[in-house]
Amino acid sequence: MITLGIETSCDETSVALLRDEEVLANLVYSQVDLHARYGGVVPEVASRDHLRKLPPLVEEALRGAGLGFQDIQLIGVTRGPGLVGPLLVGLSYAKGLAVALGIPLVGVNHLEAHIFAHRLAHPEAEPPLLALIVSGGHTSLVHVAKWGSYREVGATRDDAAGEALDKFGRLLGLSYPAGPAIDELAKRGDPQAVPFPRPMIDSGLDFSFAGLKTAAVYFLRGHPHAKREDLCAAYLEAVVDVLAEKALRAAKQLEVRKIAVVGGVAANRRLRQVLPARTEERGLKVYFPPLELCTDNAAMVAACALYRHRELREESPLCLPAAPNLPLGV
Ligand code: KG4
Ligand code: ZN
Repeated sequence: MITLGIETSCDETSVALLRDEEVLANLVYSQVDLHARYGGVVPEVASRDHLRKLPPLVEEALRGAGLGFQDIQLIGVTRGPGLVGPLLVGLSYAKGLAVALGIPLVGVNHLEAHIFAHRLAHPEAEPPLLALIVSGGHTSLVHVAKWGSYREVGATRDDAAGEALDKFGRLLGLSYPAGPAIDELAKRGDPQAVPFPRPMIDSGLDFSFAGLKTAAVYFLRGHPHAKREDLCAAYLEAVVDVLAEKALRAAKQLEVRKIAVVGGVAANRRLRQVLPARTEERGLKVYFPPLELCTDNAAMVAACALYRHRELREESPLCLPAAPNLPLGV
């Protein structure tokens, strides 16, 4: 089965081809340079660029995999959550192609797709598991009792973890998205340099990162010459500490032995060190996808669509709307 995956929910245009669960192509074209001067994603600019980039990217993926349009048997496309304009570009293209080729289309939830990055990377580590979804727009803890069954047990009440890093980066004058630059600077800094707060670390499974950013604003006002490396290391440490503690607490409460960390922030070097160290001493196993499957990509979308079509017999109607606020359902 050849599945074409399409992802355009935010500022990455991505196209993937799978042969069953084998990734034949996973191309990602990032719009970061386009949005850099605005300090964030401009939806209209993003939509227009997806429109420009998506068709040639599909052709490039097919060429690279040695396939033609006639070989595609299923199309999976992100239908939400995300920015409505960018989502509509991907959806409209996918619908047109599905009609032209006479093949089924499956609209995919972007958050479920992030969880499928884990399945692609570690097919042996099956549910029950706890998924820690950490991206620019979302931070949540999800109990995956079996594939297709999701229960959110905790989520952020304000900013997502990636957003907290991006906003902090903006304070330091780093370009958007700041996560990778903070990751890099933090390597050379002292994580104990500033005692940033760990919001809500001792209570429940929800997160709150807005107060951490405010603490950073005040600290920077009082210490304008603090070393950027130390600031990044200490701020990142606070974020990672909270994520690790909550993930451990949730795994314990749910009595699961596996934690799958997914989403853009799962690419973070410090999180990839701290979480396994803390979990393994308690007999839990933690899994991170390879970096290219952490940040937004279409391989995870295709994998999710393939599962929903094959195992749940799902096929989306051509009137399927974009769903900017789509929650992670069952
Ligand atoms: O999953 P993703 O690509 O897009 C969303 O669905 O939001 O996540 C993007 C987020 C951004 O906030 C970015 O700063 C963060 O992931 N990110 C990182 C790293 N790479 C990307 N954060 C920390 N360390 C990284 N290496
Ligand atoms: Zn994402």
